[in-house]
Amino acid sequence: MCGIVGYVGPRNAVDVLINGLSKLEYRGYDSAGVAVNTGNHLEIRKNAGKLGVLSEALKGQSLTGTLGIGHTRWATHGRPNDVNAHPHATEDGKIVIIHNGIIENYLPLKESLIAKGHSFKSETDSEVLAHLIEEQYKGNLEQAVRTALKQVRGAYSLVVTHADHREIVAARTVSPLVMGVGNGENFLASDVPALLAYTREVIFLHDGDMVVIHENDYRITDLAGNEVSREVTHIEWDAEAAEKGGFDTYTLKEIFEQPQALTNTLLGRLRDETGEVDLDINLDPKSFKRISIIACGTAFYAGLVGEYLIEQLARIPVEVDVASEYRYRQPLVSENTLAIVISQSGETIDTLEALREAKKDGAKTLGVINAKGSSMTREVDDVLYIHSGPEIGVASTKVYTSMVSAMLMLALWLGRARGTLDSAKGAELIHAARELPRLVEQALEPERVENIKRIAEKYKNARDYLFLGRGVNAPTAFEGALKLKELSYIHAEAYAAGEMKHGPIALIDENLPVVAIATDSFLLEKTISNIQEVRARSGQVIAVVSDGDTDASRHADDVIFVPKAHEMVSPIVNVVALQLLAYFTATTLGKDVDKPRNLAKSVTVE
Ligand code: AGP
Repeated sequence: MCGIVGYVGPRNAVDVLINGLSKLEYRGYDSAGVAVNTGNHLEIRKNAGKLGVLSEALKGQSLTGTLGIGHTRWATHGRPNDVNAHPHATEDGKIVIIHNGIIENYLPLKESLIAKGHSFKSETDSEVLAHLIEEQYKGNLEQAVRTALKQVRGAYSLVVTHADHREIVAARTVSPLVMGVGNGENFLASDVPALLAYTREVIFLHDGDMVVIHENDYRITDLAGNEVSREVTHIEWDAEAAEKGGFDTYTLKEIFEQPQALTNTLLGRLRDETGEVDLDINLDPKSFKRISIIACGTAFYAGLVGEYLIEQLARIPVEVDVASEYRYRQPLVSENTLAIVISQSGETIDTLEALREAKKDGAKTLGVINAKGSSMTREVDDVLYIHSGPEIGVASTKVYTSMVSAMLMLALWLGRARGTLDSAKGAELIHAARELPRLVEQALEPERVENIKRIAEKYKNARDYLFLGRGVNAPTAFEGALKLKELSYIHAEAYAAGEMKHGPIALIDENLPVVAIATDSFLLEKTISNIQEVRARSGQVIAVVSDGDTDASRHADDVIFVPKAHEMVSPIVNVVALQLLAYFTATTLGKDVDKPRNLAKSVTVE
């Protein structure tokens, strides 16, 4: 998954490109490059490493021009080095391209191009696109791109320019691409934050769209060349919202944004008087006999909480799959199956393809998604937006708690409509949901944060961690372990606490910190027994305990007190402590928490 920017207008293109790419580095930062039209010549500058390396290299040069394209890369084919960095050019340097996605049939295409005399510089699949377009170019760049793409199989957001044409041609299939509409200037980017310094008028290009932009006009067509019209969306986010807001990192900002994010997710959807929710979903909640929840990573763990809540409150069988497995296991789907895809980006290719699989098999589909206008939002039968706002930190935090609160609202929606949840119980849960922003605010109080920072420091040299949770908080343990792995690179495993004695207990010794989620629950006594089993083997126990619970707290070496919450919403309050534990462990170890190694914010390649 990579970051792409294109610009044509009166400004110095290098400034626009570098500024835009700096807002997209979360999409990948193995290398970066720009190409600028300096008259009737395309100058390329590209470097391995983060964008800063390129910015530094450009400082010493007078690369000026008012049309350009730029790219920050997350490597799929070919090592992250200068040669494999984008942009890629034809041998004569006349055609230059940048690409986000994967060209699945690039090898046969490359072989055939080499047989025709083309020579390649890089190991990438993307470079094939430049040569394919060159093959088709007879003076009309748009036509050459259109014809070339007919031979391509895979995912792309592709941006192309030619030294002799003051225009930029772009196309997208699967990988995201948005257009920024300016006044006497136009922009292209992989995502909105790259545009906000210049325009709030954005067009979310659809799969199969092509666009040609000039400074004063643009034209959108489908791959067959038929003109299509796309609405211009006014983006409310201000540039500030996508910045760090005074925090050291995006990740910490987003952890502290959770009360607001939860407010936005729940806003206008809770009906206290009837104990119901108003989700504006045009699906019949009574028509489903089974539910599939499909997602990846953190979104998958939100789905596990959803399984628990929906089965408890709506009494419908729920299966939860990681998307990469769902796609290939011939799942049993019927017309009374509801397939729920959960995704922050709405672009994760595994989840997108799993969605297509479920649709093909006849399921009704619902997206629980953050990114407006993303690919998944256009392919599901309906969308429940979670309105978390931009999440730039690669490790998901505020979006996770928003996803879980969306799962609670779906469970309420289903349970109340199907009569398995009466109005009194519904009102109780609505009240619990309303309390969430305040409880999460409390969970972020300075003295709690300081205590967690202390614990992170104490165990920072651990080689491994074990996370334990039960019931609705078993997924919380899994999400906590994932956060620690992603941010600090310390190995961490999570288990349903009752499972520990079936093997993992062999791991327990004085070097192993064990995080046990021991908050208020009907299962608390059993969790305390698990904690005692760990202590009996000299394991170090960090217990997450509800405020005031001195019984559970006395069994632990270290205690993280969290605000007491209704058990059905406690995963949202409890996970905040685990996010902070992972964050401070990572900062204590000097890790780059916003851009952890090897990761990308949204994995749009398989
Ligand atoms: C979360 O911390 C990870 N960065 C990753 O697991 C992420 O949740 C996963 O890739 C799914 O992304 P999505 O929600 O955009 O589909």
